[in-house]
Amino acid sequence: METPSHPEANTPHAFDALVIGSGAAGLTAALALADKVKVAVLAKGGLATGSTAWAQGGIAAVLDAGDTFEEHVHDTMVAGAGLNRRETVEFVIERAPHAIDRLIELGVPFNTEGPEGTGALHLTREGGHSHRRIVHVADATGWAVQQALLKAAEAHPNITLFPGRSCIDLITGRHEMRYSGSGRVWGVYALDEESGHVEAFTARATVLATGGAGRVYQFSTAPRGATGDGIAMAWRAGARVSNMEMMQFHPTCLYNLEVKNFLITEAVRGEGGHLINPRTGKRFMTFYDPERLELAPRDIVARAIDSEIKRFGLDFVHLDISHQPPEFVKEHFPNIHEKLLGLGIDMTKEPIPVVPAQHYTCGGVLIDLDGKTDLPGLYAVGECTESGLHGANRLASNSLLECFVFGEAAAADILAQWHEFEAPPPVRSWDESRVTDSDEEVVIKQNWTEIRRFMWNYVGIVRTTKRLERAMHRIQMLNGETEEYYRHFRVSTDLIELRNLLQSAELIVSSALKRHESRGLHYTLDYPGIDAEPLDTVLVP
Ligand code: FAD
Ligand code: SIN
Repeated sequence: METPSHPEANTPHAFDALVIGSGAAGLTAALALADKVKVAVLAKGGLATGSTAWAQGGIAAVLDAGDTFEEHVHDTMVAGAGLNRRETVEFVIERAPHAIDRLIELGVPFNTEGPEGTGALHLTREGGHSHRRIVHVADATGWAVQQALLKAAEAHPNITLFPGRSCIDLITGRHEMRYSGSGRVWGVYALDEESGHVEAFTARATVLATGGAGRVYQFSTAPRGATGDGIAMAWRAGARVSNMEMMQFHPTCLYNLEVKNFLITEAVRGEGGHLINPRTGKRFMTFYDPERLELAPRDIVARAIDSEIKRFGLDFVHLDISHQPPEFVKEHFPNIHEKLLGLGIDMTKEPIPVVPAQHYTCGGVLIDLDGKTDLPGLYAVGECTESGLHGANRLASNSLLECFVFGEAAAADILAQWHEFEAPPPVRSWDESRVTDSDEEVVIKQNWTEIRRFMWNYVGIVRTTKRLERAMHRIQMLNGETEEYYRHFRVSTDLIELRNLLQSAELIVSSALKRHESRGLHYTLDYPGIDAEPLDTVLVP
């Protein structure tokens, strides 16, 4: 059995603070911490393999003279179907202009209105926003942000970056040499993906910034590593998680049999793109949301597309921006234009085939305004959290913003409390004495595929209690098999991910079964109404 119980501890990697994840949330926290303390940043795979680098549309901030914080708060709460915590929404939105200034200082080349970067920032528009308020770097905002943050982190003398480390579990009082059993977090056990060894990393404070759990679904715009690792680790260590049933589906993922998860940014609709039923030729959003049309909140547009696809037996619907001048389209969407040309689609002349796909995990580890979780010494920031910002459905381009605001907030709280954080006690090293190399890797592949299929079919855009129960039944079967496999075989990144994927699926389905109403992203045919009082689904380990 592979447990951290070996009596003679190897010296762990010891730092002042640990950050798990090198996306927007993790690197923001690391840079703010590094002004005062020594920080290690661990990342699974490469340093730019999270969702941050893939973000297209941009970052929402009130920067236009005609726009107000109040309107951004209102739009966020309307999209979130009232489940948002207003205090959090205000906290984040009021800090957005500062976050944008900070990114400009770091060198992010946001698009401007005037020639050659002389004018004000160019603001694009996305669904659910009553104003133009999205700052962006053409259609590849995330890549520019990731590069700027990484450059600053690499140059910082107080930051050590550890790519290729798959974190397995948090180190708590259960892993102290002198067992305390407390939930105090002292760091993490991480697999070195190259050597195959598991090492302990300890610190006074640990920040989880591991991104979402999108890959629990068969079709997702999220990168391969979005397997809910941080959420599952925190849950196993004893932290509460909240609103996991609120999985967001993006309306417009490219439909292509080869390229399965390429997003077509919402900004295409923001700049005038229409959704068309290819069978009838009709602009079908006129039937579903006649006022907001293609710019209704995401849950509404995704359900409308799902409904058209099912009603007409379609494989996809069309997203058409070919009525705009070709130069306008190429200037706003240079990367998407080029990518599609490579696939034989010229978006300046013809419509793009699109389908909805999982896109964002609104629920996660429950945190307060300082990014604190339930466990002493453990903070969490970014997509792995439930901060109260998104409620039942995230407003477009509010998530990168959340990463910057909470990355800074968590770091500020850690530094403010620094004198109260004790040094970590000696901890046990990872025990591999009773495990062998797997001779049946096929089990991992099979179970991974199975989870993603039944989650797509039973826990998707439209749900029923019966389908959720079927999914839960399968999760319970796979739980036994996966745990047995985990106990007997040496860990690999695939196995770590499978275990976390299954844990995330269980949290999603348990939460969905508890919500007896249809609110935001949770839409069930068995409870079509909405309760008067919005209540979070909080799961307690
Ligand atoms: P990520 O950027 O996902 O980073 C997670 C990090 O954790 C990675 O470094 C990963 O390696 C690491 N990690 C994970 N598990 C482990 C482990 N076990 N051990 C060690 N490290 C681990 N939002 C917007 O606001 N605007 C947009 O325009 C936008 N466009 C998007 C487009 C796409 C295609 C996608 C998928 C998302 C988009 N989003 C957008 C959402 C946004 O990109 C994410 O919510 C945000 O980037 C999450 O940042 P993060 O730092 O929390 O996590
Ligand atoms: C997009 O560009 O459509 C994604 C924006 C987001 O997810 O916030």
